[in-house]
Amino acid sequence: MPKDIIQRGAEAVIYREGSHIIKERVKKGYRIPAIDDEIRKRRTKLEARLLEKARRSGVTTPNAEIKDSYVIKMDYIDGDKVKEKLNGMPKSMQEKVARKIGEAVASLHAADIVHGDLTTSNMILKGNDLYLIDFGLGKVSHKVEDKATDLFLLYEAIISTHYEISEQMWKTIINTYMLKYSTAPEVMTRFERIGQRRRYK
Ligand SMILES: Nc1ncnc2c1ncn2[C@@H]1O[C@H](COP(=O)(O)OP(=O)(O)O)[C@@H](O)[C@H]1O
Ligand SMILES: [Mg+2]
Repeated sequence: MPKDIIQRGAEAVIYREGSHIIKERVKKGYRIPAIDDEIRKRRTKLEARLLEKARRSGVTTPNAEIKDSYVIKMDYIDGDKVKEKLNGMPKSMQEKVARKIGEAVASLHAADIVHGDLTTSNMILKGNDLYLIDFGLGKVSHKVEDKATDLFLLYEAIISTHYEISEQMWKTIINTYMLKYSTAPEVMTRFERIGQRRRYK
């Protein structure tokens, strides 16, 4: 089957093969080979594991399997990348997406999953489902600090990519997050502190 390269990222090459996506972690010349090998293997395993764990926590993720040490094969999600579509959506749809984002992050954090790269490039909307992808920088952590950092990344991503609508988006994301995740107040307190640290640096 022909390989259509979708993206050549910093870490991985993404191909489409029919109804599947192949994510292959490529060699980084600047790393010592043994360490490079180790990192690529670890992140591949981690990403497949977290996609699975996230699904069990109630978040929609593509079905995925490890093909070899550096390669994940997963279902191709034939939807819209949130990054590309959000700004042009009607307001009611934006609100709906914001609620879905808040809900997804609440489910992850309630299951002690920290995504590590919560941007709208890593969210795909298909019908009524919001798929989360790209868990290669994620981890399992119960720490409030890690969850607050995860949210802060999302906050910065929303401001930088969806500036015009960021205030309303963020309000709805956080309202939903608070509603769906019982430890959210602690995370939000830490989130505010991270914001202050940034401002006074
Ligand atoms: N399962 C998938 N279905 C559809 N598109 C995908 C899928 N996985 C990745 N992509 C596309 O490839 C891009 C890069 O994949 P991602 O896992 O985010 O890799 P990177 O670590 O390089 O950001 C995504 O932003 C998305 O456009
Ligand atoms: Mg990505």
